Amino acid sequence: MHDAHTATRHSEPEAIFRGRSSQVYDHVTRWLLRGLYRRIAEDIADAAPDGATVLDVGTGPGHLVAAIARRRGDLTLIGVDLSPDMVTRAERNFRPYGARVRAREGDAADLPFTDSSIGMVVSSYSLHHWDNPGAVVAELGRVLAPGGRLYLYDWRRAPFTQVVDAAREHGVLGGRPHRRTLIHTGSPVQPHVVRHVMTNPE
Ligand SMILES: C[S@@+](CC[C@H](N)C(=O)[O-])C[C@H]1O[C@@H](n2cnc3c(N)ncnc32)[C@H](O)[C@@H]1O
Repeated sequence: MHDAHTATRHSEPEAIFRGRSSQVYDHVTRWLLRGLYRRIAEDIADAAPDGATVLDVGTGPGHLVAAIARRRGDLTLIGVDLSPDMVTRAERNFRPYGARVRAREGDAADLPFTDSSIGMVVSSYSLHHWDNPGAVVAELGRVLAPGGRLYLYDWRRAPFTQVVDAAREHGVLGGRPHRRTLIHTGSPVQPHVVRHVMTNPE
């Protein structure tokens, strides 16, 4: 259970996600990865339960969250990121969507949410940056509601195997057989992405 008073040593945001680099990332990905965000947003818009709270882990400047918000007006969307500068970028990008879409600083390995409070989790291209994928998986299993699904997207070489092993070890996200699929994005920069879907037991 998350306890705000517990002294947990959080990971440090990488330099490429801080300061001026976060600004460059925001501007460049907004256009270059538009097709990718659109493709992932379609998945989430199709799969999210009515009125659910959807968490984007490692949201960066929040372009994926904004793409989901445009498709589903009933969802509460929260983007979490380790980098305060990315959170500032995301907050700015979320302004058109009002209070139902927000960003907050946090470490995926120590999420600021209570048990079973999140209906669905998505994460794009953040997994390969996590210091401790096993700790993150345990956290995602904890915050996801029973039956809640995790949609993880990343490169083929990202540590998906570590995620699967950690889920087994922690006894989370074992509700249905995992599904790993290589999908086409329509983006010339990232034409393919691996999608790995895991579900908490009911
Ligand atoms: C390559 S960017 C991807 C951003 C966004 N999801 C996208 O698809 O454009 C990776 C992001 O993951 C964040 N990140 C890395 N480790 C994290 C952690 N332990 N907890 C939360 N965010 C993390 C980084 O700060 C960075 O913003």
